[in-house]
Amino acid sequence: MQQLAMDMSPPIHRWMKDDLDRSVFQKSIMVLAARIPAQKTTTFLKSDVLRRYIVDVPKIRSVVWDPSDMQGRRLLLFKVATEAALSSEARIFLTEHSAELVDHTIHLNYDYWTADDILQAVLPEELLDGSPTGFSITGHIAHLNLNKEYLPYKKIIGKVILDKNPAIKTVVNKIDNIDTKFRFFKMELLAGEPNFIVEHHESNCRFTFDFSKVYWNSRLHTEHDRLVQLFKPEDVVADVFAGVGPFAIPAAKKGCAVLANDLNPDSAYFLSTNIVKNNVVDLVRASCEDGRDFIRNAVFNVTENPFPPYSGPKLSRLKEKQSRRDQQALLQNRRDLTHPLAPTLPPRKVITRFVMNLPDSALDFLDAFRGIMVSRDGAGEGSGRLYDAMPMIHCYCFTRELEPVKAAADIRLRVEAKIGHKIEEDVDLHLVRSVAPNKDMYCISFRLPRSVAFAR
Ligand SMILES: C[S@@+](CC[C@H](N)C(=O)[O-])C[C@H]1O[C@@H](n2cnc3c(N)ncnc32)[C@H](O)[C@@H]1O
Repeated sequence: MQQLAMDMSPPIHRWMKDDLDRSVFQKSIMVLAARIPAQKTTTFLKSDVLRRYIVDVPKIRSVVWDPSDMQGRRLLLFKVATEAALSSEARIFLTEHSAELVDHTIHLNYDYWTADDILQAVLPEELLDGSPTGFSITGHIAHLNLNKEYLPYKKIIGKVILDKNPAIKTVVNKIDNIDTKFRFFKMELLAGEPNFIVEHHESNCRFTFDFSKVYWNSRLHTEHDRLVQLFKPEDVVADVFAGVGPFAIPAAKKGCAVLANDLNPDSAYFLSTNIVKNNVVDLVRASCEDGRDFIRNAVFNVTENPFPPYSGPKLSRLKEKQSRRDQQALLQNRRDLTHPLAPTLPPRKVITRFVMNLPDSALDFLDAFRGIMVSRDGAGEGSGRLYDAMPMIHCYCFTRELEPVKAAADIRLRVEAKIGHKIEEDVDLHLVRSVAPNKDMYCISFRLPRSVAFAR
C-alpha cells in the first residue's frame, strides 16, 4: 500500500541575502480530523484501518486538544484533507465509533524547521546540493569553513545556525589560510556575540582560550586521548608545541609531570591559565620559547630542577581536600602509617617522552635532539648519565603519500635524514586523519637513538 506523505517543507523565499526575515516562514496545512472521546484515544490510535492515515511527522502531535469542544474531546489528525481520501474501512470504523469528522489546520512557523530546511528555502537553487551547515563546535563557538560560492549568503547562514543551536552563542567563518606561524585561524563573525574566549571541555579537563588568537582543533580530541593513554603515570613529558595544553593537562591529570612549551605568547598565557584551573600547578611547567631551544634545554632543566615523585592521579581541588582529610584521619589513628608512595619514589629527573604536534614542520626540529644528553660544556655525559633508556619521541607530520607502506617509508626517511641516524627501536606509525584529498596526517613514534642524544 502506498505511503501517504504530507508536504512539511517550508515556503520558498530565495530573495533573502543579508537579512533573515523569520516572519515569512509560515505555513498552514489543512487536514481532516476525527473528534473522539479522550478515553477512547488508544482504540483509535491502535486501529489497523486508521493507522496509515494518522499524522506521523516529527514535532507534530497526532492527537491534540480541541479547544472549541465543551465535552473535552480530542482531535485525531489525519494526513489527508477530505473524508473521500479515507478508505471505506476507515470510514466505517469512524462511524461505528461515533467519531465526528471536522476540518483542522496545522500551523507551522520558523521554529518548526531545521537549519537545513530553512537554508534550502532561501539559498539559490544551484547551491542546494551541498549543505553549508556543517561546522565544528569549540565551546560556545560554531566554526564554519564556507566554500566561496556560499559567501554572499554567509550572514543568513550564520543567523540560521545560531537560531537552531541553542548552545551556540557565536558563529564564525574561517577566512584565508591558517596563520602560518602559530597555526590559528583568522575568522570573521557571522552571527551572535563577538566573544571569542571559549571554555571547552575535553578529556575531563577545562580549557579556556581565545579562539581567535591560539590554535585549537576539536577534531584532534581522539588523537590527544590516544597519545595520553600511551603515557605511564610516572612519565615526564616534554610537549614542544603544547598549544593551550590538550596533551599536557590530561597527562598531568593522570600523574605525569610535564614541561609544556609554546612560542605563541597567547597560547602560553592560556596554557598557564588552564594549568591553574585544572589544579595541576605542581605537575606542569609552562614556557614560551622556540621549540628548538626548548628541546635543547629540556633535559638539563629537568635534571637541575626535578619534578616531585609520582603520587597518584591528580584529583580535582575538592576531591584533593577530601582525600587529604581522609589521610590525616587515617594517620592520626595509626601513627605508624605514612603515605604508601611517599618514601619509596624518587623525584623525577628524567624525560621519558617528547611530544611534537606541529605537523607542518615538526620534523625540521628533530636535529635539535643531537647532543641533548651531552653536558653543556661538551666535556662529559652531562644529564645523560641519568638516562638508562632514551626518551620516546612522538612527532606529527603530513605526507602526500597516501598508501600506508609508501607513507611509512617517506616519513621514516625524512626523520632519519633530519636526525642523521637510523631509527630502529620502538618505531610505530599512526594515521591520525586525512586533512585533504591528497594529504594525510601521521604521528611517528620512536625511541631517540642513543648515539644521536650523545652526539657531539
Ligand atoms: C598544531 S598546534 C598544536 C597545539 C596542541 N599541541 C594541540 O594538539 O592542539 C602547534 C602549536 O605550535 C606552536 N608553535 C609554532 N611554532 C612554534 C615554535 N617554533 N616553537 C614552539 N611552538 C611553536 C603554535 O603556536 C601552536 O600552538
